[in-house]
Amino acid sequence: MVNYKELGLVNSREIFKKAFEGKYAIPAFNFNNMEQMQAIISACVEESSPVILQVSSGARKYANQTLLRYMAQGAVEYAKELGKNIPIVLHLDHGSDFELCKSCIDMGFSSVMIDGSHHPYDKNVEITAKVVEYAHKYDVTVEGELGVLAGIEDDVVAEEHTYTQPKEVQDFVSKTGVDSLAISIGTSHGANKFKPEQCTRDENGILVPPPLRFDILEEVEKMIPGFPIVLHGASSVPQEYVKTINANGGNLKDAIGIPETQLRRAASSAVCKINIDSDGRLAMTAAIRETFNQHPEWFDPRQYLGPAREELKKLYKHKVVNVLGSAGKA
Ligand code: G3H
Ligand code: 13P
Ligand code: ZN
Repeated sequence: MVNYKELGLVNSREIFKKAFEGKYAIPAFNFNNMEQMQAIISACVEESSPVILQVSSGARKYANQTLLRYMAQGAVEYAKELGKNIPIVLHLDHGSDFELCKSCIDMGFSSVMIDGSHHPYDKNVEITAKVVEYAHKYDVTVEGELGVLAGIEDDVVAEEHTYTQPKEVQDFVSKTGVDSLAISIGTSHGANKFKPEQCTRDENGILVPPPLRFDILEEVEKMIPGFPIVLHGASSVPQEYVKTINANGGNLKDAIGIPETQLRRAASSAVCKINIDSDGRLAMTAAIRETFNQHPEWFDPRQYLGPAREELKKLYKHKVVNVLGSAGKA
Protein backbone atom coordinates (compact mmCIF):
# COMPACT_ATOMS: atom_id res chain seq x y z
CA MET A 1 0.00 0.00 0.00
CA VAL A 2 1.41 3.40 -0.99
CA ASN A 3 -0.30 6.73 -0.40
CA TYR A 4 -0.19 9.23 -3.25
CA LYS A 5 1.05 11.95 -0.91
CA GLU A 6 4.36 10.09 -0.56
CA LEU A 7 4.70 10.28 -4.36
CA GLY A 8 4.22 14.05 -4.54
CA LEU A 9 0.78 13.79 -6.18
CA VAL A 10 -2.30 15.77 -5.10
CA ASN A 11 -6.01 14.94 -5.06
CA SER A 12 -8.45 17.06 -7.05
CA ARG A 13 -10.21 18.90 -4.19
CA GLU A 14 -8.15 22.07 -3.98
CA ILE A 15 -7.51 22.47 -7.72
CA PHE A 16 -11.25 22.06 -8.49
CA LYS A 17 -12.12 24.69 -5.89
CA LYS A 18 -9.72 27.14 -7.53
CA ALA A 19 -10.93 26.20 -11.03
CA PHE A 20 -14.53 26.78 -10.01
CA GLU A 21 -13.75 30.17 -8.49
CA GLY A 22 -11.44 31.19 -11.35
CA LYS A 23 -13.86 30.03 -14.09
CA TYR A 24 -11.49 27.65 -15.84
CA ALA A 25 -11.18 23.86 -16.13
CA ILE A 26 -8.36 21.45 -15.30
CA PRO A 27 -7.17 19.32 -18.23
CA ALA A 28 -7.51 15.55 -17.83
CA PHE A 29 -5.29 14.00 -20.48
CA ASN A 30 -5.11 10.21 -20.89
CA PHE A 31 -1.75 8.50 -21.16
CA ASN A 32 -0.60 5.01 -22.07
CA ASN A 33 3.09 5.48 -22.80
CA MET A 34 6.18 7.55 -22.11
CA GLU A 35 5.85 9.99 -25.01
CA GLN A 36 2.29 10.94 -24.04
CA MET A 37 3.35 11.46 -20.42
CA GLN A 38 6.34 13.59 -21.45
CA ALA A 39 4.20 15.74 -23.76
CA ILE A 40 1.54 16.27 -21.08
CA ILE A 41 4.01 17.21 -18.36
CA SER A 42 6.29 19.42 -20.46
CA ALA A 43 3.30 21.29 -21.96
CA CYS A 44 1.73 21.86 -18.52
CA VAL A 45 5.03 22.87 -16.91
CA GLU A 46 5.75 25.38 -19.68
CA GLU A 47 2.24 26.81 -19.41
CA SER A 48 2.17 26.51 -15.63
CA SER A 49 -1.07 24.52 -15.57
CA PRO A 50 -2.29 21.98 -13.00
CA VAL A 51 -2.94 18.64 -14.69
CA ILE A 52 -4.77 15.37 -14.27
CA LEU A 53 -2.88 12.36 -15.63
CA GLN A 54 -5.62 9.96 -16.53
CA VAL A 55 -5.28 6.17 -16.76
CA SER A 56 -8.05 3.93 -18.13
CA SER A 57 -8.34 0.22 -17.39
CA GLY A 58 -7.38 -0.28 -21.06
CA ALA A 59 -4.21 1.72 -20.41
CA ARG A 60 -3.42 -0.50 -17.41
CA LYS A 61 -3.84 -3.59 -19.58
CA TYR A 62 -1.74 -2.09 -22.41
CA ALA A 63 1.16 -0.64 -20.47
CA ASN A 64 1.10 -2.64 -17.21
CA GLN A 65 -0.42 -1.15 -14.07
CA THR A 66 2.84 -1.03 -12.11
CA LEU A 67 4.78 0.66 -14.89
CA LEU A 68 2.09 3.32 -15.33
CA ARG A 69 2.07 4.09 -11.63
CA TYR A 70 5.84 4.46 -11.57
CA MET A 71 5.62 6.67 -14.66
CA ALA A 72 3.23 8.97 -12.81
CA GLN A 73 5.69 9.08 -9.92
CA GLY A 74 8.37 9.86 -12.50
CA ALA A 75 6.14 12.60 -13.92
CA VAL A 76 6.29 14.46 -10.60
CA GLU A 77 10.09 14.35 -10.62
CA TYR A 78 10.20 15.21 -14.33
CA ALA A 79 8.09 18.34 -13.73
CA LYS A 80 10.45 19.43 -10.95
CA GLU A 81 13.44 18.82 -13.19
CA LEU A 82 11.80 20.97 -15.88
CA GLY A 83 11.60 23.71 -13.30
CA LYS A 84 8.06 23.76 -11.91
CA ASN A 85 6.32 21.80 -9.19
CA ILE A 86 2.84 21.87 -10.82
CA PRO A 87 -0.08 20.09 -9.09
CA ILE A 88 -0.36 16.60 -10.66
CA VAL A 89 -3.31 14.28 -10.02
CA LEU A 90 -3.13 10.59 -10.92
CA HIS A 91 -6.68 9.59 -11.79
CA LEU A 92 -8.40 6.34 -12.73
CA ASP A 93 -10.64 6.97 -15.75
CA HIS A 94 -13.94 5.02 -15.94
CA GLY A 95 -13.37 2.66 -13.02
CA SER A 96 -15.89 -0.10 -13.53
CA ASP A 97 -16.08 -1.58 -10.04
CA PHE A 98 -15.00 -1.28 -6.43
CA GLU A 99 -12.06 -3.71 -6.75
CA LEU A 100 -10.43 -1.75 -9.59
CA CYS A 101 -10.84 1.54 -7.71
CA LYS A 102 -9.44 -0.01 -4.53
CA SER A 103 -6.47 -1.44 -6.41
CA CYS A 104 -5.65 2.00 -7.84
CA ILE A 105 -6.05 3.72 -4.46
CA ASP A 106 -3.77 1.11 -2.86
CA MET A 107 -1.16 1.69 -5.60
CA GLY A 108 -0.95 5.47 -5.14
CA PHE A 109 -3.68 7.03 -7.29
CA SER A 110 -4.89 10.32 -5.83
CA SER A 111 -8.29 10.28 -7.54
CA VAL A 112 -10.61 7.66 -9.02
CA MET A 113 -13.71 7.63 -11.14
CA ILE A 114 -16.33 5.03 -10.38
CA ASP A 115 -18.48 4.87 -13.47
CA GLY A 116 -21.79 3.39 -12.40
CA SER A 117 -23.65 5.26 -15.13
CA HIS A 118 -24.64 2.07 -16.98
CA HIS A 119 -26.33 0.68 -13.87
CA PRO A 120 -29.84 1.50 -12.63
CA TYR A 121 -29.82 4.58 -10.37
CA ASP A 122 -29.92 2.73 -7.03
CA LYS A 123 -27.08 0.42 -8.00
CA ASN A 124 -25.04 3.42 -9.20
CA VAL A 125 -25.59 5.07 -5.79
CA GLU A 126 -24.62 1.88 -3.97
CA ILE A 127 -21.32 1.19 -5.77
CA THR A 128 -20.33 4.86 -5.85
CA ALA A 129 -20.94 5.27 -2.11
CA LYS A 130 -18.85 2.15 -1.41
CA VAL A 131 -15.90 3.54 -3.39
CA VAL A 132 -16.23 6.95 -1.69
CA GLU A 133 -16.21 5.36 1.75
CA TYR A 134 -12.94 3.56 1.00
CA ALA A 135 -11.29 6.41 -0.95
CA HIS A 136 -11.97 9.08 1.66
CA LYS A 137 -10.13 7.05 4.33
CA TYR A 138 -7.00 7.87 2.32
CA ASP A 139 -8.04 11.38 1.24
CA VAL A 140 -8.46 10.18 -2.36
CA THR A 141 -11.13 12.11 -4.29
CA VAL A 142 -13.89 10.37 -6.26
CA GLU A 143 -15.70 11.24 -9.48
CA GLY A 144 -19.12 9.70 -10.14
CA GLU A 145 -21.28 9.80 -13.27
CA LEU A 146 -24.98 10.30 -13.94
CA GLY A 147 -26.33 9.97 -17.46
CA VAL A 148 -24.77 7.97 -20.30
CA LEU A 149 -22.61 9.35 -23.10
CA ALA A 150 -23.13 7.95 -26.57
CA GLY A 151 -20.05 6.23 -28.02
CA ILE A 152 -17.58 3.64 -26.78
CA GLU A 153 -16.18 3.49 -23.25
CA ASP A 154 -13.80 0.54 -23.04
CA ASP A 155 -16.04 -2.37 -24.06
CA VAL A 156 -19.38 -0.67 -23.47
CA VAL A 157 -21.11 0.82 -26.50
CA ALA A 158 -24.09 3.19 -26.14
CA GLU A 159 -25.91 4.20 -29.32
CA GLU A 160 -27.75 7.17 -27.82
CA HIS A 161 -27.09 9.77 -25.13
CA THR A 162 -29.06 9.48 -21.95
CA TYR A 163 -28.82 13.05 -20.76
CA THR A 164 -28.26 13.63 -17.05
CA GLN A 165 -31.49 14.37 -15.21
CA PRO A 166 -30.94 17.50 -13.09
CA LYS A 167 -33.56 16.31 -10.60
CA GLU A 168 -31.34 13.35 -9.66
CA VAL A 169 -28.04 15.13 -9.03
CA GLN A 170 -28.64 16.50 -5.53
CA ASP A 171 -29.83 13.15 -4.20
CA PHE A 172 -26.89 11.36 -5.90
CA VAL A 173 -24.27 13.72 -4.53
CA SER A 174 -25.64 13.67 -0.99
CA LYS A 175 -26.19 9.88 -0.86
CA THR A 176 -22.78 8.99 -2.33
CA GLY A 177 -20.49 11.73 -1.00
CA VAL A 178 -18.69 12.06 -4.36
CA ASP A 179 -16.29 14.98 -4.88
CA SER A 180 -17.18 15.66 -8.53
CA LEU A 181 -19.83 14.57 -10.98
CA ALA A 182 -19.52 13.69 -14.69
CA ILE A 183 -22.66 14.58 -16.62
CA SER A 184 -24.02 13.86 -20.07
CA ILE A 185 -24.97 16.98 -22.07
CA GLY A 186 -24.19 15.90 -25.63
CA THR A 187 -20.47 15.05 -25.66
CA SER A 188 -19.37 11.52 -26.51
CA HIS A 189 -16.20 9.45 -26.65
CA GLY A 190 -14.02 8.88 -29.71
CA ALA A 191 -13.44 10.75 -32.97
CA ASN A 192 -16.92 10.22 -34.47
CA LYS A 193 -19.13 12.15 -32.10
CA PHE A 194 -21.78 13.17 -34.62
CA LYS A 195 -23.08 11.86 -37.91
CA PRO A 196 -22.91 14.43 -40.76
CA GLU A 197 -26.72 14.31 -41.02
CA GLN A 198 -26.96 15.58 -37.42
CA CYS A 199 -24.90 18.68 -38.37
CA THR A 200 -25.62 21.89 -40.27
CA ARG A 201 -23.13 23.70 -42.56
CA ASP A 202 -21.73 27.18 -41.95
CA GLU A 203 -21.11 29.77 -44.71
CA ASN A 204 -17.79 28.05 -45.58
CA GLY A 205 -19.41 24.65 -45.90
CA ILE A 206 -17.88 23.43 -42.63
CA LEU A 207 -20.02 20.96 -40.64
CA VAL A 208 -21.35 22.43 -37.41
CA PRO A 209 -22.53 19.86 -34.84
CA PRO A 210 -25.59 20.38 -32.64
CA PRO A 211 -24.74 22.51 -29.57
CA LEU A 212 -24.16 21.01 -26.15
CA ARG A 213 -27.16 21.06 -23.80
CA PHE A 214 -26.12 24.07 -21.73
CA ASP A 215 -29.69 24.23 -20.44
CA ILE A 216 -29.13 20.90 -18.64
CA LEU A 217 -25.77 22.11 -17.30
CA GLU A 218 -27.41 25.25 -15.91
CA GLU A 219 -30.16 23.20 -14.24
CA VAL A 220 -27.52 20.96 -12.68
CA GLU A 221 -25.62 23.99 -11.41
CA LYS A 222 -28.77 25.29 -9.72
CA MET A 223 -29.35 21.94 -7.99
CA ILE A 224 -25.80 21.61 -6.61
CA PRO A 225 -24.34 25.13 -6.42
CA GLY A 226 -20.55 25.28 -6.34
CA PHE A 227 -20.15 21.55 -7.03
CA PRO A 228 -17.40 20.52 -9.53
CA ILE A 229 -18.77 19.11 -12.79
CA VAL A 230 -16.80 16.95 -15.24
CA LEU A 231 -17.12 16.71 -19.01
CA HIS A 232 -16.04 13.49 -20.70
CA GLY A 233 -15.80 13.04 -24.45
CA ALA A 234 -14.53 16.59 -24.96
CA SER A 235 -12.17 16.18 -27.90
CA SER A 236 -12.64 18.67 -30.73
CA VAL A 237 -11.27 16.40 -33.48
CA PRO A 238 -9.15 19.08 -35.21
CA GLN A 239 -9.85 18.78 -38.92
CA GLU A 240 -6.23 19.52 -39.87
CA TYR A 241 -5.20 16.27 -38.16
CA VAL A 242 -7.97 14.34 -39.91
CA LYS A 243 -6.81 15.78 -43.25
CA THR A 244 -3.14 14.98 -42.57
CA ILE A 245 -4.02 11.43 -41.56
CA ASN A 246 -6.15 10.87 -44.67
CA ALA A 247 -3.59 12.54 -46.96
CA ASN A 248 -0.93 10.15 -45.70
CA GLY A 249 -2.67 6.82 -46.16
CA GLY A 250 -5.22 6.96 -43.35
CA ASN A 251 -8.95 6.43 -43.69
CA LEU A 252 -10.93 8.37 -41.11
CA LYS A 253 -14.51 9.01 -42.10
CA ASP A 254 -16.98 11.51 -40.62
CA ALA A 255 -14.65 12.45 -37.77
CA ILE A 256 -16.44 15.30 -35.98
CA GLY A 257 -15.83 16.67 -32.47
CA ILE A 258 -17.00 19.33 -30.02
CA PRO A 259 -16.23 22.90 -31.16
CA GLU A 260 -13.64 24.49 -28.88
CA THR A 261 -15.83 27.58 -28.38
CA GLN A 262 -18.38 25.33 -26.65
CA LEU A 263 -15.71 23.87 -24.40
CA ARG A 264 -14.43 27.33 -23.50
CA ARG A 265 -17.97 28.24 -22.46
CA ALA A 266 -18.26 25.05 -20.41
CA ALA A 267 -14.88 25.69 -18.75
CA SER A 268 -16.06 29.06 -17.47
CA SER A 269 -19.07 27.43 -15.77
CA ALA A 270 -19.14 24.79 -13.00
CA VAL A 271 -17.23 22.42 -15.30
CA CYS A 272 -13.89 22.00 -13.50
CA LYS A 273 -12.44 19.00 -15.40
CA ILE A 274 -12.43 18.39 -19.14
CA ASN A 275 -11.35 14.99 -20.50
CA ILE A 276 -9.36 14.87 -23.73
CA ASP A 277 -7.94 11.67 -25.19
CA SER A 278 -8.94 11.32 -28.86
CA ASP A 279 -7.38 14.64 -29.95
CA GLY A 280 -4.03 13.41 -28.65
CA ARG A 281 -4.42 10.15 -30.54
CA LEU A 282 -5.13 12.12 -33.74
CA ALA A 283 -2.14 14.43 -33.20
CA MET A 284 0.25 11.50 -32.75
CA THR A 285 -1.16 9.53 -35.67
CA ALA A 286 -1.04 12.55 -38.01
CA ALA A 287 2.60 13.27 -37.13
CA ILE A 288 3.66 9.63 -37.44
CA ARG A 289 1.90 9.08 -40.78
CA GLU A 290 3.41 12.26 -42.17
CA THR A 291 6.91 11.29 -41.02
CA PHE A 292 6.56 7.81 -42.52
CA ASN A 293 5.47 9.28 -45.84
CA GLN A 294 8.20 11.92 -45.92
CA HIS A 295 11.01 9.62 -44.74
CA PRO A 296 10.37 6.05 -45.88
CA GLU A 297 14.02 5.30 -45.16
CA TRP A 298 13.73 6.01 -41.41
CA PHE A 299 13.36 3.10 -39.03
CA ASP A 300 14.51 4.39 -35.63
CA PRO A 301 11.32 4.81 -33.50
CA ARG A 302 12.75 8.04 -32.08
CA GLN A 303 12.59 9.54 -35.57
CA TYR A 304 8.80 9.25 -35.68
CA LEU A 305 7.88 9.21 -32.00
CA GLY A 306 9.90 12.41 -31.45
CA PRO A 307 7.83 14.54 -33.89
CA ALA A 308 4.65 12.86 -32.58
CA ARG A 309 5.57 13.91 -29.04
CA GLU A 310 6.25 17.48 -30.23
CA GLU A 311 2.86 17.66 -31.98
CA LEU A 312 1.14 16.36 -28.85
CA LYS A 313 2.86 18.96 -26.71
CA LYS A 314 1.73 21.70 -29.10
CA LEU A 315 -1.84 20.41 -28.88
CA TYR A 316 -1.83 20.27 -25.06
CA LYS A 317 -0.42 23.78 -24.81
CA HIS A 318 -3.15 25.05 -27.11
CA LYS A 319 -5.81 23.34 -24.98
CA VAL A 320 -4.66 24.77 -21.65
CA VAL A 321 -4.05 28.27 -23.03
CA ASN A 322 -6.94 28.75 -25.45
CA VAL A 323 -9.65 26.28 -24.46
CA LEU A 324 -9.54 25.36 -20.76
CA GLY A 325 -8.02 28.56 -19.43
CA SER A 326 -5.82 26.71 -16.90
CA ALA A 327 -2.51 28.21 -18.08
CA GLY A 328 -0.79 30.20 -15.34
CA LYS A 329 -2.94 28.60 -12.61
CA ALA A 330 -0.46 26.05 -11.20
O1 G3H B 1 -13.05 7.24 -22.20
C1 G3H B 1 -12.19 6.54 -22.69
C2 G3H B 1 -10.79 7.06 -22.81
O2 G3H B 1 -10.62 7.73 -24.02
C3 G3H B 1 -9.83 5.93 -22.64
O3 G3H B 1 -9.87 5.08 -23.74
O4 G3H B 1 -10.29 2.85 -22.72
O5 G3H B 1 -9.33 3.07 -25.04
O6 G3H B 1 -7.95 3.64 -23.01
P1 G3H B 1 -9.33 3.55 -23.61
P1 13P C 1 -12.53 11.94 -26.03
O1 13P C 1 -12.67 10.61 -26.71
O2 13P C 1 -13.50 12.93 -26.57
O3 13P C 1 -11.13 12.45 -26.06
O4 13P C 1 -12.92 11.74 -24.48
C1 13P C 1 -12.00 11.21 -23.57
C2 13P C 1 -12.62 10.86 -22.26
O5 13P C 1 -13.72 11.25 -21.93
C3 13P C 1 -11.83 10.04 -21.35
O6 13P C 1 -12.56 9.66 -20.22
ZN1 ZN D 1 -14.64 9.35 -20.53
